[in-house]
Amino acid sequence: MAVDILIGLQWGDEGKGKIVDVLAPTYDIVARFQGGPNAGHTLEFEGTKHVLHQIPSGIFHPNIKNIIGNGVVLDPIVFRNEMLKLQERGVDAARNLFISKKAQLIIPSHRNIDRVSEEALGKAKIGSTLKGIGPTYQDKIGRVGLRVGDIVAPDFKDRYNRLLDRHRKMVEFYGQQLDLGNEEAVFFEAIEYLRTLKLVDSEYMINEAMKNGERILAEGAQGALLDVDFGTYPFVTSSTTLVAGACTGLGVAPRHIGEVYGIFKAYCTRVGSGPFPTELHDQVGENIRQAGKEFGSTTGRPRRCGWVDLPALKYSIMLNGVTQLNMMKADVLTEFDTIQVCTHYKLASGEVTDQLPHSLEEPIEPVYVDLPGWKVDLNLIESVEDLPEAFMKYITFLEEQLQVPISIVSVGPDRKSTLRREIEKVG
Ligand code: GDP
Ligand code: IMO
Ligand code: MG
Repeated sequence: MAVDILIGLQWGDEGKGKIVDVLAPTYDIVARFQGGPNAGHTLEFEGTKHVLHQIPSGIFHPNIKNIIGNGVVLDPIVFRNEMLKLQERGVDAARNLFISKKAQLIIPSHRNIDRVSEEALGKAKIGSTLKGIGPTYQDKIGRVGLRVGDIVAPDFKDRYNRLLDRHRKMVEFYGQQLDLGNEEAVFFEAIEYLRTLKLVDSEYMINEAMKNGERILAEGAQGALLDVDFGTYPFVTSSTTLVAGACTGLGVAPRHIGEVYGIFKAYCTRVGSGPFPTELHDQVGENIRQAGKEFGSTTGRPRRCGWVDLPALKYSIMLNGVTQLNMMKADVLTEFDTIQVCTHYKLASGEVTDQLPHSLEEPIEPVYVDLPGWKVDLNLIESVEDLPEAFMKYITFLEEQLQVPISIVSVGPDRKSTLRREIEKVG
């Protein structure tokens, strides 16, 4: 069986966690392939909201195996807290959770480096979640990082201390002192806990599962516009958030990729710094933020809000080979008389284009098409046939522009608020 992949098409927080949870019952395995505790994936069912940072979003289905792949950067402290929280809620996550021995470890000093390097950037700061993501991926590429498999080595502590020494010098380079508080003790407790779990060669596990006909869903974190190569660099995260990241982050050969679910909000948000052509600085943006409860799942920061951006979506669809789209949070737009859709960018040179220029930081004027709002509470709708005409026009317009069918329409945070549409297979 091929591996299906679910990818965020905007700047993250599209609703990936919700849809992975909805799709999970049709899979045997859910696997995370990149990112780490910078992610916050929200799931809601039976009146309870759960936010997952590092644990895959298939964890609430007792018969599904969940894998944290080699491409992930794992913070043992955050991870143990997540596991304990699940345990308190009656979920035995350890039973069906497998962690790649090749996943990189975030150690407490990575977070220190993240903080001092952001401070040094001043106004140019990236707006990082400060979870140590960038510094940990730097150590991975610099070939000095620690991996999950290392924690069973007798000299693990020595290796840890060598890395810590490097980090101390780096923090001093920024004119500050390394300050770990009591985090080291907590870290080693979390390492002890990690040792009790199923640490595996997940590339073998996944490839054998594929051979045995098991169905696998790879869960992306962040979004295509935060990709380290193709995102709005340098205001990006430090991993490959695209489909290609699932190949390197799980050990899946490109020819084994199946469906690619591209997930986007009916509008657009961004948290952290960096360009955002359709951002609304007015009351409309504030109304979207309030109606959509657009505050970060990981940091609580208010998310910047704006209209949907088709040049950006087309770009993300192209880079990921998306075969079906999932549209989230259209219910948030109920109150609006008019919905705006950005179809093109007008550049400083006067050129009008639907392609992303090299830098989105140059002045860009979005070119909008106005569509009538639907003014119906979509959250109350239970069947696709009952969707209002104005809303169906919005969907048809987006499908025509993007040339990919919308297979899922999400109309509320709960698992049940999910409408599926019949689509013709693409690709
Ligand atoms: P992720 O990082 O892509 O998993 O997304 P987040 O969990 O960070 O952010 C999505 C937010 O929107 C969460 O609070 C979800 O509960 C919520 N959400 C997801 N789908 C819908 C929807 O269709 N309508 C509404 N109103 N909220 C949704
Ligand atoms: P999920 O998986 C939204 C953003 C940060 C910052 C930039 C770099 O929940 O969609 P980092 O901590 O990676 O160094 O931050 O990327 N960012 C996210 N924004 N959702 C996320 O994850 C994000 N993960 C990182 O806000 O701008
Ligand atoms: Mg999120």
